[in-house]
Amino acid sequence: MKKIEEYVKSIPDFPEKGIIFRDVTSVLQDADGLHLAIDEMQKFLEGVDFDVIAGTESRGFIFGVPIAYNLHKAFVPVRKKGKLPRETVSAEYELEYGKAEIEMHKDAIQPGQKVVLVDDLIATGGTIEAAARLVEELGGEVVKIIFLMELEGLKGREKLKGYDVESVIHYEGK
Ligand code: PRP
Ligand code: MG
Repeated sequence: MKKIEEYVKSIPDFPEKGIIFRDVTSVLQDADGLHLAIDEMQKFLEGVDFDVIAGTESRGFIFGVPIAYNLHKAFVPVRKKGKLPRETVSAEYELEYGKAEIEMHKDAIQPGQKVVLVDDLIATGGTIEAAARLVEELGGEVVKIIFLMELEGLKGREKLKGYDVESVIHYEGK
């Protein structure tokens, strides 16, 4: 069987020159790749006591829901601004140009709940750091953060000091 790394297609100079795009769709479109990705991410939760998985829109949903389902836990979406119909809390984070905002429903996490954050990729860490802030604003405790892929050259982990961060695939560059 192939290793998980072998399912990721790397596209040079996308979306702009000098960037290597690590394409998660190449993993998902292969039945074995999809299985392996979920299994490898889920392994980080062996023996971990938690209540809820929170996944960030949109690629975090792809991995968060199957892991939550497999482990019989709840899933809550961290959505891009303006999508959630009930009362929300929101957090801003930096993009390369400008800012973005994500939201969670106020009742998505109960105070004291242990939360695992899931996304496909950590680049600068801005998205997941904002998601962690939201969980904590709601009184939750972030007990683990899991990615399929990590771009180590962007030093996203430095934004996540104090959190327990795991990635299945590590890329040295950006
Ligand atoms: C991508 C990726 C992560 C985030 C990583 O999502 O899926 O969520 O960027 O970048 P960061 O560590 O610098 O915050 P994107 O915002 O492109 O949206 P998508 O998941 O809806 O494709
Ligand atoms: Mg994303």
